Amino acid sequence: MPQKIILDCDPGHDDAIALLLAHGNPDIDLVAVTTVMGNQTLEKVTRNALSVARVAGITGVPFAAGCVRPLVRPIETAPTIHGESGLDGPVLPEPVLQLDDRHAVDLIIDTVMAAEPGSITLVPTGALTNIALAARKEPRIVSRVKEVVLMGGGVATGNWSATAEFNIVIDPEAAHIVFNESWPVTMVGLNLTHQALATPEVAERIAAVGTAPARFVGELLEFFGHTYREAQGFDAPPVHDPCAVAYVIDPSIMTVQRMPIDVELRGSLTLGMTVADFRAPAPADCSTQAAIDLDVDRFWDLIVDALEWIGDPA
Ligand code: BDR
Ligand code: CA
Repeated sequence: MPQKIILDCDPGHDDAIALLLAHGNPDIDLVAVTTVMGNQTLEKVTRNALSVARVAGITGVPFAAGCVRPLVRPIETAPTIHGESGLDGPVLPEPVLQLDDRHAVDLIIDTVMAAEPGSITLVPTGALTNIALAARKEPRIVSRVKEVVLMGGGVATGNWSATAEFNIVIDPEAAHIVFNESWPVTMVGLNLTHQALATPEVAERIAAVGTAPARFVGELLEFFGHTYREAQGFDAPPVHDPCAVAYVIDPSIMTVQRMPIDVELRGSLTLGMTVADFRAPAPADCSTQAAIDLDVDRFWDLIVDALEWIGDPA
């Protein structure tokens, strides 16, 4: 049975690739896509999500827009990484899908409450604002969700500060809510995603697919490679968000370690840090785990396979 997921995202170059992977893998049933401000404003990332849906040929999946700002703090976007549109590089086609009328929070709640308990996995690849609000608005979703597999945070590493990752630090209060609920949380953080580097060899494999969506991904990676070189000193860009989707497709693609993980809300140097407690043994009621090591070759195989599956949508 394919795994039913809700992708909550802020496209975003790597979010776009996560969306293509979720759509193009037969082991995933993409039941809803929701957007949240982050890499750019909500308006821009929502338009980007709909443009990517057109590139991928996604139809029949509800897309809904969510929160325009974090729970407590002012909005902070990432144009140095994703450009002014949030998805600079390729030409973005006019969307054809209509947005669902509901707020993302309500679409998440409705979808989880209508589904068989334990059948829906939440895959957030942006700030956790929508997910936190959904848990507060309808607490019954917490026990009905199968698990939360999120891209964010990291074990002892940061990118937006020395200690914190972008998705967590732009809305640390939301992240605090999500990490402290009783649902199982897998943190696919920077320590893992920095292994998923789009090297020139990867770019060649993607180009060899030879379709319009593959060319689109190639153009995304070119822009992403440039900004990651300029802003963060990477030789090849880390493609974070599809790693979370890859874990849902095949958990054996990465090693994980169960450990308490919490989010720092007060530290002047550590705001938004995901504090992972490696001391063994993890407490019996620990519901959080961190991804540690990625099988890099199998990860890129999944991306290439998804692009081949998608082909050239009409
Ligand atoms: C995360 O931040 C965003 O810029 C990316 O899309 C990814 O979700 C990496 O820190
Ligand atoms: Ca993202």
